[in-house]
Amino acid sequence: MIKAFRPAWAALGLLCFTNEAGATSLRRDVKAGSLCEFAEKEPLLSCKKVAAGGSSWNANLHEAWHQLCQDSQTSPYMEVFLDKRFKENYHHVYKSDGWADSAWVNYVAVKKSGGVFGKLTERLVESIHRFSQHPIIVVNFGQEAPEELSPRRFPRLVLLHARGFDPALRLSFNFNKLRAILLAQAKVGASLDSDMLLVGPQADQLLNRTAEEITEKYRFPMMPTHFLDRDLRDKNSGKGNFLPYSCKNCPEPTMRWGQAQPTWTHWSFPFVSRWLTAKMKGRSQNGVPTDDIAEDEDLLNVALWSEGATKSWCAFQTGGINFLWENLYPQHPPGPYPYYEDPRYFPAGIPVAFWFGHAEKDPAHIDNALTFLSDSSRINTQPPKPFYHNMTFFASFKELKQAYPDLKCTL
Ligand SMILES: *[C@@H]1O[C@H](CO)[C@@H](O)[C@H](O)[C@H]1NC(C)=O
Ligand SMILES: *[C@@H]1O[C@H](CO)[C@@H](O)[C@H](O)[C@H]1NC(C)=O
Repeated sequence: MIKAFRPAWAALGLLCFTNEAGATSLRRDVKAGSLCEFAEKEPLLSCKKVAAGGSSWNANLHEAWHQLCQDSQTSPYMEVFLDKRFKENYHHVYKSDGWADSAWVNYVAVKKSGGVFGKLTERLVESIHRFSQHPIIVVNFGQEAPEELSPRRFPRLVLLHARGFDPALRLSFNFNKLRAILLAQAKVGASLDSDMLLVGPQADQLLNRTAEEITEKYRFPMMPTHFLDRDLRDKNSGKGNFLPYSCKNCPEPTMRWGQAQPTWTHWSFPFVSRWLTAKMKGRSQNGVPTDDIAEDEDLLNVALWSEGATKSWCAFQTGGINFLWENLYPQHPPGPYPYYEDPRYFPAGIPVAFWFGHAEKDPAHIDNALTFLSDSSRINTQPPKPFYHNMTFFASFKELKQAYPDLKCTL
C-alpha cells in the first residue's frame, strides 16, 4: 500500500555534515546539534531575519522571538532552513511573504540507520495527503534526513531543518514541538506527532475552527481533552483514569488535563515563546519553576492554567488504530462507559471525534489501517458518523452539541 519509493539519494547513506555558515554563528557556550546536509545555506528565519511590523502575524512572531533571541543559550535554536529538495513544494505551500495560511506541523528526528520514526512520519504524511486539503510541514531536528519523505510523492509536504538541543540542556526531545510552532511560519496550525494517522476528511475543520477560536481576544493554544483526569482535586474520585499531576507552586487547574496536540494561531506565538524560553533557561515563569516539568504536555497544561486559559477541544484521537474496524465503521460504542469521565468537567464522559489514531508504533499495522481505508467498498458507501458521546454517534459536532449543549469542550 505504501509505495516502496526509494529516491537515488537514499542510496548515498544520507551523511549529513555540519553547516559551516551556521556553525560559526553559534555561541561558544552552546553546542547545538549540526544541521542535515540537505539544509539550504541561508536560513528562512533567524534572529537577524525576524522583522517586526506589517501584519499581525509578523508582529506576533517578532514578539515571540524577542525573548529567545536575546539570550545566547536560546538564540542558536531559532534558525530554520528549507530542505534543498523541497523548493518547489515550498513555493506552493507558502505565500510570497513567507507564510503558510494553515498547516499540520510535525517534528521529528531519525537515526542514521533509519528506524521506526521515519516510517511512522511517512504514514502520517501519506494520510494527510489522502484525507486533508491542508499542507503538512515537518521540522527535522536531527542530523539525518528521514529518507521516506519525498518531495515528489508528497507535493503538499515541506521539510524544514533546525538544530537539535545540546544534550547538556537536559531537555526532552518533545520540547522541539514548541520550537516547531515558532519555526514553521504557519498562521494557523495543529501539532501532530509522528505516531498519529489521519483517518478521514472531517478533521480539516479543526484548522478552520482553530482560526475561529484562537484570536486576538483569546490567544492561548488549545489542546484536546485527555482520557486521563490528572486534577489533584479529584483524588478521591475513585476513577480508573485518574493519575495525579503535581508540580512545585503548581497553579490550580482551569480545565481538564489536555493532550499534547496543541492547535494554535499566530496569536499564540508569544505564549509559546514565554514558556519555551523559561523551560530552556530552567527558570520560573509566573512563579512556577519549570525545571522539574519533564515533558511538553506537562508544560503546556501548567502554562495554560497559570495564564487562566479556559478553552479545550473535545478528544479527537483514539489510542491505536483498531478503533477503525472495532468502533468507527461498525458504529459500535467504544469502552469504557462513561467514556473517561471526571467529576468536575465531564461527569458523563468526554465526547470524542474519531479523526486520528495515535500511538500505534507498528508501521505494518498502520498499513493495515491504510489498506482498510482504501477499500473501494468502503469509499463508495456513506461515511460513518465520526462523533461520539454517551453511547450515541453523531454526523456532525453541531448535532452532538444540540443534544449536549453544556459541554466543557468544543470542536
Ligand atoms: C477551511 O479552510 C480551508 C483552507 O484554508 C478553506 O479552503 C475552507 O474554505 C475552509 N472551510 C470552511 C468551512 O471555512
Ligand atoms: C446519557 O444517556 C443516557 C441514556 O440515553 C441518559 O439517560 C443520560 O441522561 C445521558 N447523560 C447525559 C449527561 O445527558
